[in-house]
Amino acid sequence: DQQHFFQRGLIAWYQPEDRPLPWKGIQDPYHIWLSEIILQQTRVEQGMNYYLRFVEAYPSIRDLAAAPDDEVMKLWEGLGYYSRARNLLAAARYVTTELGGVFPTTYTGILALKGVGAYTAAAIASFAFNLPHAVVDGNVFRVLARFFGISTPQDSTAGKKEFTQLAESLLQRDQPALYNQAIMDFGATVCLPRNPKCGQCPLRTECVALRDKRITELPVKSKK
Ligand code: ADE
Ligand code: SF4
Repeated sequence: DQQHFFQRGLIAWYQPEDRPLPWKGIQDPYHIWLSEIILQQTRVEQGMNYYLRFVEAYPSIRDLAAAPDDEVMKLWEGLGYYSRARNLLAAARYVTTELGGVFPTTYTGILALKGVGAYTAAAIASFAFNLPHAVVDGNVFRVLARFFGISTPQDSTAGKKEFTQLAESLLQRDQPALYNQAIMDFGATVCLPRNPKCGQCPLRTECVALRDKRITELPVKSKK
């Protein structure tokens, strides 16, 4: 069926080396967490350098926890949304002092960290621990809305529920990390917000939005 086609097509399309990113293939939860916090409100191209600088300055979460506030804020300069840097430090200190320096290994433990929401927790849980949690963000809403032809507003209560349930049912439970990275990369390189590359899309033969010429209408947002 359509869900199977989507899963298989996405996994068959995904070649990690097509989009090399410094945190790909890494399983250290500290490094993954760092990259995901940086990428919350920052483009990959810009975030990459900051990620590399942070890892170099603070090779372990204990190093980050021990750093003076102003030094960390200085390193963060230019990324904006400074609450991210403050939460980063608070979480690093919490893990170091309260958890003995061991990064939480469960979804709820990860979600409890300051600055970590559902998307980031799912990314860390899957990439670091292969836990079956699907990432759901703007990229995922867009891909799913188009491929499955869903016009429920993504920011409505019903929409959030519908998309989250679909995303969870699509997740390949035996390889959540691979699946999550695949859908992120697919949304970022093929099913783009504007001018998606439908001509080269591995899913085009079953895509509802393409078939019904609704690509510009989907995804639907109720608020502007
Ligand atoms: N955006 C957020 N997390 C990402 C990741 N792991 N890879 C690429 N883009 C991302
Ligand atoms: Fe997205 Fe176009 Fe592929 Fe449909 S055919 S999933 S709209 S890139």
